Amino acid sequence: MSGVLLLGGSGFLGRHVAARLAARNIPVSVPTRRRERAKHLLVLPTVEVVEADVGDDATLTALCAGKDGVVNLVGILKGGNGEPYGAGFARVHAELPARVGHAAVAAGVPRLVHVSALKAASDAPSGYLRSKAAGEAAMLVTMPQATIFRPSVIFGAGDSFLSMFAALLRRLPVVPLAAADARFQPVWVGNVADAIVEALLRPEAAGRTFELCGPSEYTLRQLVEYVGTVIGRKRLVIGLSQPLSWLQAFALEMVGGPMTRDNLKSMSVPSVCEAGCRLPFGLEPAYLEAIAPTYLK
Ligand SMILES: NC(=O)c1ccc[n+]([C@@H]2O[C@H](COP(=O)([O-])OP(=O)(O)OC[C@H]3O[C@@H](n4cnc5c(N)ncnc54)[C@H](OP(=O)(O)O)[C@@H]3O)[C@@H](O)[C@H]2O)c1
Repeated sequence: MSGVLLLGGSGFLGRHVAARLAARNIPVSVPTRRRERAKHLLVLPTVEVVEADVGDDATLTALCAGKDGVVNLVGILKGGNGEPYGAGFARVHAELPARVGHAAVAAGVPRLVHVSALKAASDAPSGYLRSKAAGEAAMLVTMPQATIFRPSVIFGAGDSFLSMFAALLRRLPVVPLAAADARFQPVWVGNVADAIVEALLRPEAAGRTFELCGPSEYTLRQLVEYVGTVIGRKRLVIGLSQPLSWLQAFALEMVGGPMTRDNLKSMSVPSVCEAGCRLPFGLEPAYLEAIAPTYLK
């Protein structure tokens, strides 16, 4: 490939995708709102970081010019409340994918890959999942040959999921846990990044939607307890009732903490693949137990 535009490339998943593209000697352009956030990418030989506002259509089209692939990883966990979703979710999850699709078409980019979320649906309980569904649909209207990935929660070096629990376990003697029975099928960031790169390179990936799930399913409680074992901080984990979970989410939302009421609603849908472990292109699934200790410790 002669050039890939990696939107959201400064984030957790983005750095793994950028590293894989650079390893194949593919030029990558990463726009960011703040250059500082993407400075870790500057060591990658074929990666350039550009400060740009992807909220502007002309900028987006200019960024797409001359590329033969666009990857959209832009996403947020806190997008406000409202129907059918908060203003942040509307802008970032629902509208941006459509605008990226338009820009890619306008610039004649042949390959477009978009990362959504497992269980995205227009009737999902959370604004996050509803807005992700709207974004998928809008992108496919503008560019039907786009490839869409729907991962469960992603783990790996630099994640904010298991690492956040590790930080919490290091500080708290007892963990009061909202949605302790929520189910996940975590997928390794390396597997997700490989799937994205393969989708850019394989013509047969065009127009397809892939779920991404790792080999094992866990409840949130199991994951937190597992992290405690790995870092040598076994703690009492107290599963909160539904009303207390809501109260905790509400309180954290008010102080800008790591959870919102919308996140809690997302967790009411099992983030698992009905068909078991799901990875395309013959990718070999990585086990959480093999990877997590390498970065949590
Ligand atoms: N991590 C997971 O467990 C998981 C699971 C399922 C789906 N996903 C999806 O996978 C994608 C990547 O996730 P991630 O964990 O890598 O996210 P992340 O680390 O939070 O990175 C998000 C990226 O989006 C960009 N961004 C956020 N808000 C933006 C805005 N308003 N305008 C422009 N850029 C904005 C950020 O760029 P700058 O701040 O540099 O501008 C950053 O590069 C997201 O779409 C996410 O919803 C993630």
